[in-house]
Amino acid sequence: MLAAPDKITRNINTALSSLRRGDLVAFPTETVYGLGADALDEIAIKKVFQAKGRPADHPLIVHIASQDQLSNWAIDIPETAWTLAKSFWPGPLTMILRKHPAVSNLITGGQSTLGLRIPNHPLTIELLKQFGSGLVGPSANKYGHVSPTTAAHVSADLGTELGAILDGGACTVGIESTIIYLAGERPSILRQGAITAEEISAVLNIDVQIENQKIVRTSGSHDSHYAPHTPMHLVKPVDLIGTVIEYLAKHKNFSVISFQPKPIDLFATVYWQKVDTNPKTYARSVYANLRTHDQLNNAAILIEQVPNEDIAWAAIADRLFRASTKK
Ligand code: TXA
Ligand code: MG
Repeated sequence: MLAAPDKITRNINTALSSLRRGDLVAFPTETVYGLGADALDEIAIKKVFQAKGRPADHPLIVHIASQDQLSNWAIDIPETAWTLAKSFWPGPLTMILRKHPAVSNLITGGQSTLGLRIPNHPLTIELLKQFGSGLVGPSANKYGHVSPTTAAHVSADLGTELGAILDGGACTVGIESTIIYLAGERPSILRQGAITAEEISAVLNIDVQIENQKIVRTSGSHDSHYAPHTPMHLVKPVDLIGTVIEYLAKHKNFSVISFQPKPIDLFATVYWQKVDTNPKTYARSVYANLRTHDQLNNAAILIEQVPNEDIAWAAIADRLFRASTKK
């Protein structure tokens, strides 16, 4: 159900009073919108899991306003964390550190580690500063569904369950933060994002590996995630036209998201969207595109594979793979 329009606000004070009352408040970040709640309020934390329909053993990350707050939430913070914070915060990087004993087990699903990040959005940084503490913030969508990159997307998924939606416009990055694990022997990447393994390796001066397939506790690494309700299939560029012809034999209306333009005069009944070949531009609109095509209630969404072997596309390729329907 959609939120009442008056819940969508640009007013930080409205959002703050909602949070202080123990209500949920969606907030904008540069990556995707977060489903915020007071990270010190266990009742509010439970509401987050309930609203999303998320299993209790899938940990939440905590958003903070500044590096000074890091030691309120984590212990044994390694030098690498401070180096990364200096280079990438505020920004799309979540660090997994050993949790401070005071952090609620409800946030971490009983794990001894905690994800933390300073998001790069002026409204939310101001909100966090004035709030003075941390906010838990999973992506503000129903569990398994496409992440939200506008206030309207949040409203469509979680409308009535929220005290307020702080509207900070469309997210500029468009896919979730890179997650780096810093609580073990060697840093490793659990979820790819706008900050690449190469950039992190360069800053740390070591070769940081990507392990996102192996980590079961990262909910984004489960089979179906970021997914539209309409069956979505990844198609290799060389197979695209052949697949469209095959589908036309069975279905009148379906969607195609492709780098190629719609062949002139052909495929009149196909909802064809030509997308940008720049990975940053692509990432910014990928979730909005999936939501738009999903609303058409067509038979399927055929989406052209992105260049898998190119590091600049790696995080997008990862999301599309997880969002696509498994055969
Ligand atoms: O960009 C983002 O990170 C967004 C914005 C709102 O900040 N948030 C976000 O949260 O994507 P969420 O909950 O949708 O994804 C966070 C991921 C989950 O897959 C969760 O399982 C994983 O981080 N995670 C959280 N704490 C963890 C931990 N201690 N160890 C391993 N994975 C963890
Ligand atoms: Mg999520």
